[in-house]
Amino acid sequence: MTAEPLVTASLPSNLDRDRLPHHVAVIMDGNGRWAQRRSLPRIMGHRRGVDTLKKLLRTCNDWGIGALTAYAFSTENWGRPHTEVDFLMTLFERVLRQELAEMDAEGVRIQFVGHLESLPVSLQTEIDRAVQQTRDNPGIRFTVATNYGGRQEIVQACQAIATQVQLGKLAPEDIDENLFSRHLYTAGSTDPDLLIRTSGEMRISNFLLWQLAYAELYVTDTLWPDFDLAEFQQALSDYQQRHRRFGKL
Ligand code: IPE
Ligand code: IPE
Ligand code: MG
Repeated sequence: MTAEPLVTASLPSNLDRDRLPHHVAVIMDGNGRWAQRRSLPRIMGHRRGVDTLKKLLRTCNDWGIGALTAYAFSTENWGRPHTEVDFLMTLFERVLRQELAEMDAEGVRIQFVGHLESLPVSLQTEIDRAVQQTRDNPGIRFTVATNYGGRQEIVQACQAIATQVQLGKLAPEDIDENLFSRHLYTAGSTDPDLLIRTSGEMRISNFLLWQLAYAELYVTDTLWPDFDLAEFQQALSDYQQRHRRFGKL
């Protein structure tokens, strides 16, 4: 780990506080390539990626951004070599255990989205602890998408709604966008305003398919371990130039 200075608490002067995104989502991509370019094992990229996320979370909290959602592991990522999958699961667990006290002290409210039941039990235990311990915190809402798939989320919402219809608790005509949203993992959260993807890939990769309907997209070639404060500032500044029309004029 390099000893970089902690982020500054004040918002850079080129950014308009009133026009910050309320909710930022990130597809943290490029860890493996970052490592491979240095002839390191891929897992070293994941380790460095954690440092990037820690700094970004603190920056968002300091700058008054209300919510940060980070894509940590997709339902498709199980298809990777089991050594990498095992490393990631252990990493998530260790980082949660090590960082919980500090995040709690900084007022972060931690949440997880995804099919958590099929994660290792010891990881589920850390997740439960983190969520319970921080649930009433006043700071940023930090959501980690782990074993998350947008399609899977939509399918499980359909199953839950269909069950209620079958039980006679709900009529088909009661199903609208609001009700549907309340059956997603993200129930109660606002949709992301800004989606950042690193490593230059121009795709969503099954992330928040419903919730990103009107998010502004920002893609950078920078690999996730190299995504720093200057890059984030650039993404926010770019966002502040956008004209969000939501289909209107
Ligand atoms: C993103 O980095 C982290 C996870 C998907 C867990 P990658 O591991 O996908 O890195 P690249 O895309 O192979 O470089
Ligand atoms: C998306 O990255 C998933 C996460 C960042 C957790 P991937 O590396 O899995 O996506 P693809 O394979 O490039 O679409
Ligand atoms: Mg990738």
